[in-house]
Amino acid sequence: MPPNPNELHFPSGFLWGAATAAHQIEGNNVNSDWWAREHAPGTTLPEVSGDACDSYHRYGEEIRLLADLGFDTYRFSIEWARIEPERGFVSRAAIEHYRRMVAACHEAGLTPMVTLHHFSNPRWFADLGGWQSPDAVDLFARFTEAALPIVADGVDWVCTINEPNGVAGAIGGANLNLPNHVYALPDPQVSQTLVQAHRRSRAVLSAIPTIKSGWAIATQAFQPEPGCEEVAHTYGHPREDFFLEAARGDDFIGVQAYTRTIIGPDGPKPPREGVERTQMGWEYYPPAVGDGIRNAWKLTDGVPVFVTENGIGTADDTRRIAYTAGALTAVHQAMADGIDVRGYLHWSALDNYEWGSGYRPTFGLIAVDRETFVRTPKPSAHWLGQVAKTGRLTTDA
Ligand code: NOJ
Repeated sequence: MPPNPNELHFPSGFLWGAATAAHQIEGNNVNSDWWAREHAPGTTLPEVSGDACDSYHRYGEEIRLLADLGFDTYRFSIEWARIEPERGFVSRAAIEHYRRMVAACHEAGLTPMVTLHHFSNPRWFADLGGWQSPDAVDLFARFTEAALPIVADGVDWVCTINEPNGVAGAIGGANLNLPNHVYALPDPQVSQTLVQAHRRSRAVLSAIPTIKSGWAIATQAFQPEPGCEEVAHTYGHPREDFFLEAARGDDFIGVQAYTRTIIGPDGPKPPREGVERTQMGWEYYPPAVGDGIRNAWKLTDGVPVFVTENGIGTADDTRRIAYTAGALTAVHQAMADGIDVRGYLHWSALDNYEWGSGYRPTFGLIAVDRETFVRTPKPSAHWLGQVAKTGRLTTDA
């Protein structure tokens, strides 16, 4: 048979997987600041996380499911609030728990990628001022040390801080109530603190020579209208580029892409009328990941790229497949242009608790029954698992 021009081939050794974060799936993360926020009187959050997916107890199921579906990598986060529930008190049981998760990945044949910090903080850290505390960098370095036993045996990939630009934006933009297409301006002091925390954490991790460490940035595909390049640069630099530039010299850079933002003369514009939107209200725009990869590669001077998140909140699983096929086409194109992309991790393995939106948006390849916690892979999970297994993507389906 002649080669199919509509079939894209990914190299062997390219990693394929799915991602989650502790607070969004574990359940009962009661010592975290996010749990406190969910339960605070007058909270603006629509829903509490509650039992979430009960993954604190059922992680083995999703790990085995991902492996059975054909994936080879699982990105998950460890919860600082469980590991250090009080300042200076490290829970050996929590460390053991996460070591068991790593072991479960190995048993199933999955490569674990471990994120040390994915948005939620211990309450005590938040009470000290969180990332605005003068001790934040030291405290995060000490947490990294405490977490070393989790990543010391066979964890090659460690992501220090997830979306520091989102973290700094949430602090800079607190109480602003911005429209959906406007990204809050990061607090510059917090941005600097996060860079320092990332570097100190990497230095601690370097005690284990096999670990490759980096951080994961929310890339936002800012696209200037003609003549608006300068506006886009001024808008995009503190929100994205600053964090990519800080990753020069890292072992990898994580790209997390969902949608684009068009920049006009007055800054970001809402999606054009009539365009398809996801459950998050974001424009359906699969090539966004290509913009993110290219910006990351350029601004880091060629640090290897990992797509650490990419996905879509949708109730229509056929749109998830279409979106992901479009995104993977953009990934493939970037690789064909010479960019070193090491893997693709879909957000998310499971339908889970979405920070500001609760359980309404469904990003998962695997559905989770909210009462029984039964996990059911969607057609997209089988489809992407097949792409992962074969390294082939057919785009004319
Ligand atoms: C990025 C975040 O890392 C993740 O926690 C979140 O659920 C997804 N984006 C979707 O918004």
